[in-house]
Amino acid sequence: MNKKIKKAIFPAGGLGTRFLPATKASPKEMLPIVDKPMIQYAIEEVMACNIKEFIIITGKYKRSIEDHFDSAYELEENLRKLDKKKLLEEITRHNHLDFAYIRQKAALGLGHAILCVKPFVKDEPFAVLLSDDVIEPEETLLKDMIKLYEKLECPILALEEVPMTDIHKYGVIEGADLGNGLYKINNLIEKPSKEKAPSNLAIIGRYILTPEIFSILEKLTPGRGGEIQLTDALRELLKKQTIYGYLFKGKRYDAGDKLGYLKATVNFALKNAEVSEAFSKYLLDIAHMLKNKKHHEDKTHQ
Ligand code: UTP
Repeated sequence: MNKKIKKAIFPAGGLGTRFLPATKASPKEMLPIVDKPMIQYAIEEVMACNIKEFIIITGKYKRSIEDHFDSAYELEENLRKLDKKKLLEEITRHNHLDFAYIRQKAALGLGHAILCVKPFVKDEPFAVLLSDDVIEPEETLLKDMIKLYEKLECPILALEEVPMTDIHKYGVIEGADLGNGLYKINNLIEKPSKEKAPSNLAIIGRYILTPEIFSILEKLTPGRGGEIQLTDALRELLKKQTIYGYLFKGKRYDAGDKLGYLKATVNFALKNAEVSEAFSKYLLDIAHMLKNKKHHEDKTHQ
């Protein structure tokens, strides 16, 4: 098998129900975090890894993703005329990349979305990024996973230690700690209860997968929520192949969820040169106001 990861897959075919009504007719992946749609952060993470082929899995009401990564001749010309060099550079920085779009005809789950790329990936290993898991741009998670893959030649799942109160939201692993953040996975459970979770190590939205996953996905019957679950396929794959986990210690935001999205927005705004100073002042004012409000409430309850 080819050892080089040349393709990155961005499943974006989900319904985004946690963000309704905003996602009724526009994609969750296009929700901005400060001034960039969340999918652009994931695309730029991959650009930093020297991968050149981008496959985005879209669905109904997702056309604006294609428009976003297309060149925008009229806008570019206008910015040129107005001599807005920085903005021009900003909106053209993806123009040289190759994007392919595959439409998932129905949102039948992440596993189903990944199966849609089978005819285009053939026998290559590939990276998968869930763009609603937003990672700080300075992190090197995907780069590290690619390096590991080149050594191990087995699927690698990004892991994060999550509080047990949140464990029911994730796929969770049981594994042997091999040191340096590497785990050999022995079992995987999708969204377990706190009591049934085998660990606090949750799978987050960065994967290196190999084409063996496709034949398993093809045979899988819908699992939890009537969807074809990637975790179910990975559990099947474990019977035939070693799967590793790689612990991410950096900052990730679950921006597919309202609270995570708001946290990402605040943290990215605090790092944005244009607004950070005024925004942090505003946050301090709000914190002060909330503190006074709480103090007042505590007093009236005494
Ligand atoms: P989520 O579990 O976040 O589902 O999917 P969702 O539909 O996007 O959002 P909610 O839960 O209804 O609010 C994780 C990733 O898998 C993709 C999503 O687009 C997201 O990037 N996905 C999910 C698909 O591509 N197709 C699907 O059928 C389901």
